[in-house]
Amino acid sequence: MVFNLFKKDKSLHDLLTHKMREALDTERELSKALPRMADAASDPALKKGFSSRLEQTRNQAGRLERAFESLGERPNADSDYVVRSLIDEGEEFSSIDNPAVRDAGLISGARHIEDHEILMYQTMADWANEMGHNEAAKLFSETLKEEQETKKKLDHLAPDIYSEAHEVKEQKTE
Ligand SMILES: [Fe+2]
Repeated sequence: MVFNLFKKDKSLHDLLTHKMREALDTERELSKALPRMADAASDPALKKGFSSRLEQTRNQAGRLERAFESLGERPNADSDYVVRSLIDEGEEFSSIDNPAVRDAGLISGARHIEDHEILMYQTMADWANEMGHNEAAKLFSETLKEEQETKKKLDHLAPDIYSEAHEVKEQKTE
């Protein structure tokens, strides 16, 4: 069910549960996409990064389910169109022939997804704190910390991957 924007009678609680449903869709869709991203990646560190994120992503979905429970809400997911379009783009990057250029596309998408997740969990933690939903806020903060760690690792890895991809282009234009 998509958040009904035409219903104007909304509370902050409604916004929070809406965001949680999108976040649940994000983690579930990523659990499906990460094994494909790991297969497509060629750089060993990037490949390992994608496969190790799978377990973490499943745990994050579990944390969201617990947060729904703590609010007395059912853990239903709503399509998160942002992450779904980023995953689609990742599928396109996966079909690039050159492994270095393919990796550059994949890691750019992964960083974009992390930024999106960081913003979602930060927003949910802020809203849950504001409303005194302490257990949910704690769960969101735990995941937020993991997403920030992942982002840091990707940021660290990206320059080398981009420079390898650039060398490919230089060779072709000689
Ligand atoms: Fe996540």
